Amino acid sequence: MRVLCAFDELDENAGKGFELPLHGSLQRIFVVRRGGQVYGYHNVCPHRGTTLDWLPDQFMDPECRYLQCATHGALFRVEDGHCVAGPCAGKRLAPVTVTVHDGQVLLLDE
Ligand code: FES
Repeated sequence: MRVLCAFDELDENAGKGFELPLHGSLQRIFVVRRGGQVYGYHNVCPHRGTTLDWLPDQFMDPECRYLQCATHGALFRVEDGHCVAGPCAGKRLAPVTVTVHDGQVLLLDE
């Protein structure tokens, strides 16, 4: 378990990326806040394996409704990472396990 950031550092419907050692190698992950909850995923698009953000921490579509891959525009639900539109429709982002405790966003995966 490790602290990723303070919950207050995350705006509603906004994400934050991290690069850290996980499962024995350096990995890119991100967290996104919605409705008082935080969701976490590997920052790897299931279409071509690129990172989703075109600028650091820019993970949302213009309406801040879905997560969006900057490369070809695939849209993913925040709540479960399911791709609802784009070239990888029907696939999912790989989740990481995060929780909020004492105002801190914690990564539970090691
Ligand atoms: S790499 Fe993400 S939609 Fe193509």
